[in-house]
Amino acid sequence: MRNGRHRTALVAGGAGFLGSHLCDALLAEGAEVICLDSFVTGRRQNLRHLARDPRFTLIEADITEPLPAALAARRPEAVFNLACAASPPHYQGDPEHTLLTCVLGTRNLLRLAESTGARFVQASTSEVYGDPEIHPQVESYWGHVNPTGPRACYDEGKRAAETLCFDYLRAGRADVRVARIFNTYGPRMRADDGRVVSNVVTQALAGADITLYGDGSQTRSFCYVSDLIDGLRRLGSLATPVPSAVNLGNPVELNVAQLVERVLALTGSRSAVVRRPLPADDPRRRRPDITLARRLLGWSPCVPLETGLRACIAWFEEEMRPGACRPSQAKDAAAEAPAVADLHRQPAEDASQRSRPRRMNQAEDARLVARPGR
Ligand SMILES: NC(=O)c1ccc[n+]([C@@H]2O[C@H](COP(=O)([O-])OP(=O)(O)OC[C@H]3O[C@@H](n4cnc5c(N)ncnc54)[C@H](O)[C@@H]3O)[C@@H](O)[C@H]2O)c1
Repeated sequence: MRNGRHRTALVAGGAGFLGSHLCDALLAEGAEVICLDSFVTGRRQNLRHLARDPRFTLIEADITEPLPAALAARRPEAVFNLACAASPPHYQGDPEHTLLTCVLGTRNLLRLAESTGARFVQASTSEVYGDPEIHPQVESYWGHVNPTGPRACYDEGKRAAETLCFDYLRAGRADVRVARIFNTYGPRMRADDGRVVSNVVTQALAGADITLYGDGSQTRSFCYVSDLIDGLRRLGSLATPVPSAVNLGNPVELNVAQLVERVLALTGSRSAVVRRPLPADDPRRRRPDITLARRLLGWSPCVPLETGLRACIAWFEEEMRPGACRPSQAKDAAAEAPAVADLHRQPAEDASQRSRPRRMNQAEDARLVARPGR
């Protein structure tokens, strides 16, 4: 560790929306970065620009399986666990795998941190609060979660992962920090991930009807991705362990109908708004209390919603341009990202397999590790 910065950091889930931005931030500050990802929801194109960076290594593997031995050999000083499908259609697509990713996968990475002495940063979620009874949500609130509903694989999985993290911390087995991340948006979100910002922006840009669930009075707080990554880095760089989870999110709250209005104004779209019933267990209110993050990390978000939305709209405009690589296209993004795809020894999966994670033989781990340019 140099000046609180990590020389070698492992980012599990590094091909995803947040993970790929974290890889960028860690590389920018001089770290060597190992990205481990199964590509169940992540995309190769998120890493394409890193293909020739000699400080970047990509490992394709599933954290629910025994981890590649090559990882421990690299002795990362920090392990960031972002590996988990994060949007409802994706994590509900294979709920068993989502739960196991949270529990078994987190355990595998915690054991790695224990054996290498690495600092461990867990990407938890505001979903641990469920449909909250107190507002705004403070870290001391235990939550109001349906343990058997369709969101439970994620919500309860993330809660169990937190339990594991704090048990490792209490037992002195690993230096663990837990970030409870609230809705985050920005470039590299997938158009098909079913999250409110991506849904509304892509529908507005396409001139399609905008789906408003319920009466639109349910609230959310949207954090721009650069702010969130800054918070995660600060949490990972803190000199002392933190005995509590830390909320990371933007405390500016607005309701979903207001978000739709802003997106319509910014895009100039004439889309109509159509109402649909609220999905099961959809939280009515969401807003983080970030007092702890302010005090501990000196952190608070600084990107205004309008600035972030403009950047996000520009991203989706590019994504939806005719001929651009779109996540919903049947062809795997790997075929369009040869520089990074070349790093993998595994054949690109076809679209019919993509809805389920590929279970790999990780005994082959020596063959999975590749460095750009080698
Ligand atoms: N984006 C948000 O608003 C938000 C909010 C709360 C929490 N989070 C958390 O942050 C993390 C990243 O979220 P995101 O929005 O970038 O989601 P994402 O789906 O874009 O990224 C998740 C990444 O993890 C990988 N992954 C999933 N299961 C895996 C497994 N078993 N083994 C290896 N890799 C696996 C996926 O392929 C993907 O690259 C998640 O843990 C999520 O729970 C995100």
